[in-house]
Amino acid sequence: MTTTALITGANKGIGYETARQLAARGMTVLLGARNPELGHAAADKLRAEGADARFIRIDVTDEESIAAAAARVESEFGTLDVLINNAAITGGLEGDGTASSGTLTTLRRVYETNVFGLVAVTNALLPLLRRAEAARIVNVSSEVGSLAGRTDPNSPMAQMVSAIPYSSSKTAVSMVTVLYAMELRDTPIKVNAANPGYTATDLNGHSGFRTAEQGAEPSVHLATLPADGPTGTFWGYLWGQDEEYGVIAW
Ligand SMILES: NC(=O)c1ccc[n+]([C@@H]2O[C@H](COP(=O)([O-])OP(=O)(O)OC[C@H]3O[C@@H](n4cnc5c(N)ncnc54)[C@H](OP(=O)(O)O)[C@@H]3O)[C@@H](O)[C@H]2O)c1
Repeated sequence: MTTTALITGANKGIGYETARQLAARGMTVLLGARNPELGHAAADKLRAEGADARFIRIDVTDEESIAAAAARVESEFGTLDVLINNAAITGGLEGDGTASSGTLTTLRRVYETNVFGLVAVTNALLPLLRRAEAARIVNVSSEVGSLAGRTDPNSPMAQMVSAIPYSSSKTAVSMVTVLYAMELRDTPIKVNAANPGYTATDLNGHSGFRTAEQGAEPSVHLATLPADGPTGTFWGYLWGQDEEYGVIAW
């Protein structure tokens, strides 16, 4: 039986690496990208490595493209085993990057992608995920959205100056994750949030200290959880702790 995974924002960075690692485990990977040229190029590259990788156009802010992607998955596969909600933007630096320095325009733009887009994609694909034997949904979040980390003076998160859009969008992703996990708790579907850790990608001008391969590991772990694995958790890289991976406090 083919196991199929759809990853949004998979033409580069952590999403691309997630697709590569899931394909290496024998999954058919649907590389979601909003730009067809970049999406095709990424899928071609993975296929050259022997992966069963296919480009699927999906702009998470465009409901028509989401509906078309869901219709294609349904007609080609009938079900979906893994959904990785990975696409996100930061909104860029405004002013001095403090909470009061950003514009509402940026806040709305970031939420359109990171929160509303994630919900729209999940709702469109949920019927197909329900049809799979035991689907997994992974919402790629970030420790910068952890309220516990931000308010713990001993956490690296408490030292970080942040504008509102990106960090708070990831806090919203946490609640969204919990609410889907609650709705689906009597089904075999597991819904968890992943923390890649500070990873060198275009998102941060490659300033992160982890590689994209490492950044993809939490998503791959949560996408391949066994039947007795957790649901409704935030799991991934633990910054400044002895263990590399574990549960992160919301
Ligand atoms: N890098 C880190 O340190 C870090 C840390 C914690 C969490 N994360 C999370 O990890 C995930 C991946 O980030 P990354 O670091 O790999 O960033 P990245 O290299 O900038 O990749 C982001 C991906 O999202 C896509 N995307 C953006 N808006 C989209 C839209 N409207 N529709 C569809 N795709 C869209 C981008 O497509 P285009 O190429 O077309 O722009 C790109 O493929 C994000 O959720 C991010 O918040 C990253």
